[in-house]
Amino acid sequence: MKKVLIISSSLRAHSNSDALATAFAEGAREAGHVVECISLKGKEIRFCTACYACKKTGRCVAPDDAPEIISKIQVADVVVLATPIYYYEMCGQLKTLLDRTVSIYNEPYTFRDVYLLATAAEDEPSTPERAFNGLGGWVECFEKARIAGQVFAGGVYEQNTILGHSALETARKMGAAI
Ligand SMILES: Cc1cc2nc3c(=O)[nH]c(=O)nc-3n(C[C@H](O)[C@H](O)[C@H](O)COP(=O)(O)O)c2cc1C
Repeated sequence: MKKVLIISSSLRAHSNSDALATAFAEGAREAGHVVECISLKGKEIRFCTACYACKKTGRCVAPDDAPEIISKIQVADVVVLATPIYYYEMCGQLKTLLDRTVSIYNEPYTFRDVYLLATAAEDEPSTPERAFNGLGGWVECFEKARIAGQVFAGGVYEQNTILGHSALETARKMGAAI
């Protein structure tokens, strides 16, 4: 039984990338894992100012929602990051959250397997490359962790257009196989 934390970063209702996150969660739950899903909708996540106050305490001093989310990342076994593709990159709100994890850079953490889920309007295999590379850069900074899998659903622009897309089943199976 693994502790799985899924962070869904799209801020819109009926989000395509959130549907991938839900499918992954369903697979993982069916396989008996403990899954928590966090949406960044309605969360306040300020920019990292590189004040490095966290170097003394392992916790960010900014009084917003990021420290609690980051504490959950720290104690998960599996972390799943879902993002819409914005200008061939991960969305800004996810990057802003990941920047804030500098607070745990020198702290103990349990997560090992990181999964990446992305959606975009364009349907080319290369579309998510920069986003996956960027997320890979974050994973690389946590040396005990690795990218264990990634799912991309292309050709989905409007809300909910992912319904019936084969990537949903891929994400569900990936969740079941962690
Ligand atoms: C600011 C912005 C930038 C986008 N940039 C791209 C892009 O570079 N390539 C692409 O194929 N789609 C792009 N899109 C479309 C979204 O990736 C697409 O609608 C995606 O399914 C949204 O996921 P969501 O429903 O989870 O928010 C962009 C959308 C927005 C709002």
